[in-house]
Amino acid sequence: WFSHVEPAAKDPILGVTEAFLADPSPDKVNVGVGAYRDDNGKPVVLDCVREAEGRIAGNLNMEYLPMGGSNKMVEESLKLAYGEDSEFLKDKRVAAVQSLSGTGACRLFADFQKRFLPDSQIYIPVPTWANHHNIWRDARVPQRSFHYYHPETKGLDFAALMDDVKNAPNGSFFLLHACAHNPTGVDPSEEQWREISYQFKVKNHFPFFDMAYQGFASGDPERDAKAIRIFLEDGHLIGCAQSYAKNMGLYGQRVGCLSILCEDELQAVAVKSQLQQIARPMYSNPPVHGSLIVSIILSDPELKSQWLKEVKGMADRIISMRSTLRQNLEKLGSPLSWEHITNQIGMFCYSGLTPEQVDRLTNDFHIYMTRNGRISMAGVTTGNVGYLANAIHEVTKS
Ligand code: LMR
Repeated sequence: WFSHVEPAAKDPILGVTEAFLADPSPDKVNVGVGAYRDDNGKPVVLDCVREAEGRIAGNLNMEYLPMGGSNKMVEESLKLAYGEDSEFLKDKRVAAVQSLSGTGACRLFADFQKRFLPDSQIYIPVPTWANHHNIWRDARVPQRSFHYYHPETKGLDFAALMDDVKNAPNGSFFLLHACAHNPTGVDPSEEQWREISYQFKVKNHFPFFDMAYQGFASGDPERDAKAIRIFLEDGHLIGCAQSYAKNMGLYGQRVGCLSILCEDELQAVAVKSQLQQIARPMYSNPPVHGSLIVSIILSDPELKSQWLKEVKGMADRIISMRSTLRQNLEKLGSPLSWEHITNQIGMFCYSGLTPEQVDRLTNDFHIYMTRNGRISMAGVTTGNVGYLANAIHEVTKS
């Protein structure tokens, strides 16, 4: 039956973790996957999460959630993305369901897009998170690209981005990273977001925001929702994928939210029912544990403020590692500019290292990262930053 099945290509991100785990070297460093580590390189369970788990224990039953997941979790998620006092929430114009984290939210949306706008395409930034391509490919939505990153400035190619927005057919779907762009760590400024939003309005494009890192750009989830809020103010209908993998450290719990702002309540009811119907044959209904953790934390003012402190703590540790990595490279006398390490934001540094240089880092120094040169700053610690800087200097100096 299956003799024709060839092994699949390794995943460009999760494949790096597999290779890291298989390496017996005591020096090995994993700056591949975007998963936060403390300064000892250990995975972190936030205190607010431990507290929420304590409250769940004993009270938990194992009943199914509805197809659309926990209403409470969804409600709290929407406040986080659209704003506590959003008129759209009061008017019940947002169709939303609990999703299997950000990937699940993107995939539900892509399937919805294919089902109800079968001739539509999606414009995806260059570069983007590798899995975006898989998601829209498997949903059979044709992909187009738009300019985003400028390899020379290691910043945003705003002019080319705007040209692509203007030249796309009216009414196109665009995938936008709401904050802390993955993999580049380069976000438009507030002013640039306003211009993008204006041009979207002129062209009647539909913005779909992937917000996987709310809190990791500025340390404040409210500020990180700025791009979305600008589009909302300008009267766009939007889609939004939220994830609690990074900002609550709930990676393996697979908890997130997909929302679509609709014209009115009636439309929102219809859209939500269709999202549920797409979920039902795929996974029936989402898991309960992670959604309880999220709704407990976000609905309790004390736990929520503790969470905000902890998110800021994670963001600040990453920012301090950016400075230390850059300083180390400069102290080593690197002939290259490493300014972008501190200019870029969020979990990643898009280093500019070539695939061959990355291969040398892995083969000669046991440093694991994706071949596009992305460094997960969340894996950099006081203990390994010197070793990392030295290795980067060795492979880039000649
Ligand atoms: C990443 O980009 O490293 C994370 O979003 C993890 C993943 O699933 O790829």
